[in-house]
Amino acid sequence: MLNIKIERTASPKTKPDYSKLGFGKYFTDHMFLMNYSTEKGWHDARIVPYGPLPLDPSSMVFHYAQELFEGLKAYRKADGKIQLFRPMKNIERMNATCDRLCVPQIPAEDVLQAIKAVVEADKDWVPYDEGTSLYIRPFIIATDPMLGVHPSHTYIFAIILSPVGSYYAAGINPVKIFVEREYVRCVKGGTGRAKAGGNYAASLIGQKRAEDMGCAQVLWLDGVERKYIDEVGAMNVFFVIDGTVITPELTDGNILPGVTRASCVELLKKWGVPVEERKLSIDEVMEAHANGKLDEAFGSGTAAVISPIGELYDGDTKMVINNNEIGPVAKRLYDAITGIQWGKTEDIMGWIEKID
Ligand code: COI
Repeated sequence: MLNIKIERTASPKTKPDYSKLGFGKYFTDHMFLMNYSTEKGWHDARIVPYGPLPLDPSSMVFHYAQELFEGLKAYRKADGKIQLFRPMKNIERMNATCDRLCVPQIPAEDVLQAIKAVVEADKDWVPYDEGTSLYIRPFIIATDPMLGVHPSHTYIFAIILSPVGSYYAAGINPVKIFVEREYVRCVKGGTGRAKAGGNYAASLIGQKRAEDMGCAQVLWLDGVERKYIDEVGAMNVFFVIDGTVITPELTDGNILPGVTRASCVELLKKWGVPVEERKLSIDEVMEAHANGKLDEAFGSGTAAVISPIGELYDGDTKMVINNNEIGPVAKRLYDAITGIQWGKTEDIMGWIEKID
C-alpha cells in the first residue's frame, strides 16, 4: 500500500469544451509521480500539480529510449459515478513490458491505488458528454544521467490524465487503412508485444506513408515473412471472413496483447460467434475480398474502442469492405463494450472497477 502525498494546485485550469475534445490534447490539473532507485526501490509516491519534469539532458530515456507506457480510461456513468475498465489487464501488461525492457516492476495493487488516487484527485475532469472519457496514461522513464548503454538504476513512474473524445476525427465511421509492405514494426524476439514508446517511434514512418495516401492508419505485416497480418498502428485488428471472426494470434510475440482485443474475443466466445486467433495472411484477406467473403474488418484499442475499416489500400489495389459501412459484428462489439464501460448495461463480464 502506497503512502501518497497530495499537493493540490493553487491555480486550477479552465476546462476545455467537452464537445470538441479530440484525443490527447488537454491535460488535467494533477499528475502522479513516484521515483525508483536501486537503494530505495519505488518510493516517494505523490500527486502534484501537472507540469514539466526537470530532467538531466543525459537522462537515459533521451538516448536509448528505455521507456514504456500504458493507456486506459475512466468513464462517467449517467449517475455521475466514475469507473475503470479492466485496469488490472493494463497493469499486468505494464509489468510484462517492464520485464522486457529491464525496468523494475511495480506491485500491481500499488499501480491500481495510484491510478485511482490521481483520477479521484481530478474527478471533476472526467467528462459527462456522450462518447467522452478520461484517458489515463501511466508511463515509466529511465533517468540515470549517463551515456553507457545499460539498464538505468533510477526511474520515474508518472500518470497523466487527458479528457478525450474519439481517437479518430471520423468517430465510429469507417477508416481507410494502408498496407505497409516496405517497413516493419517489429521482428520475432523484438519488443512487439511490449508497450514500449520505441515501437511507436519505429512505426511513424509507416504512419506518415499512410497519411500521405489519405489513410488514417497503417496495417503492419510480420517482419519475417512479410505476409502475415500483425496489427494496425494504434489498434489490434479483426477480419470477418465468411462468418468467422479472425484476429492474429499472440503466440509469436509480435502483437500487442490489447485489452479491448481480449474483451472482443471473450465476448464473441460468450455469444457463440465463431472466432479464431491464428495466423492470417494478407493474401487470405485479399482472396476473401475477391470472392465476396470478406464481410467486415475492424480495429480494436483503448483509445479507438472499435473502429471499422472501410477501405484497405495495398499498393494500387483498393479494397472496399462492407460498402464502407460499420458491420454487424463491429457494431455489436462496440455497443457491448461501450455499454459496460459507461455503465449503460450490466457488467455481466465482471470487467468494471469502481472509483467512487
Ligand atoms: C491505446 O489505445 O490506449 C493506445 O495506447 C494506442 C495509442 C498509441 C494511442
